[in-house]
Amino acid sequence: MSTPQNFYAEVGGAPVFRKIVSRFYEQVAEDEVLRPLYPEEDLGPAEDRLRMFLEQYWGGPRTYSDQRGHPRLRMRHAPFKVGPIERDAWLRCMRIAVDEAGLDAEHRDQLWHYLTYAAASMVNSEF
Ligand code: HEM
Repeated sequence: MSTPQNFYAEVGGAPVFRKIVSRFYEQVAEDEVLRPLYPEEDLGPAEDRLRMFLEQYWGGPRTYSDQRGHPRLRMRHAPFKVGPIERDAWLRCMRIAVDEAGLDAEHRDQLWHYLTYAAASMVNSEF
């Protein structure tokens, strides 16, 4: 299995991450659970942050930390209610984006495993 250090290059680098995250936010824009959570009308900056974070996590450029500092993702999600419904909505949008990205099965499964785990760890509400 790839390590996060070489995954970024193996799947095709920046264009692939751009494709996944932009497709994800197209889904968020239409999602009645998720859209109200996002404080800004323009989802573009949120899209940039998620893309930079994922690129960094998977071995790409470290622009996220240069601009945002330590990720501390649970803390950054604390202002938003993330319960099981929000988690499932997030994963539903992400599933579409990942499935359409054209990754081979091994990389797709590795990415998906990480995302489901990360989404579960972001839950901060029982309901
Ligand atoms: C930010 C929702 C899971 C990564 C945000 C924001 C919201 C949100 C509302 C603020 C938008 C903004 O950046 O202005 C959710 C919900 C989740 C979830 C409902 C469901 C479980 C995740 C996961 C990851 C992630 C699993 C990583 C794999 C990020 C990042 C930011 C962010 C990197 C920007 C943090 C910053 O630098 O300020 N999220 N998120 N989120 N989220 Fe999530």
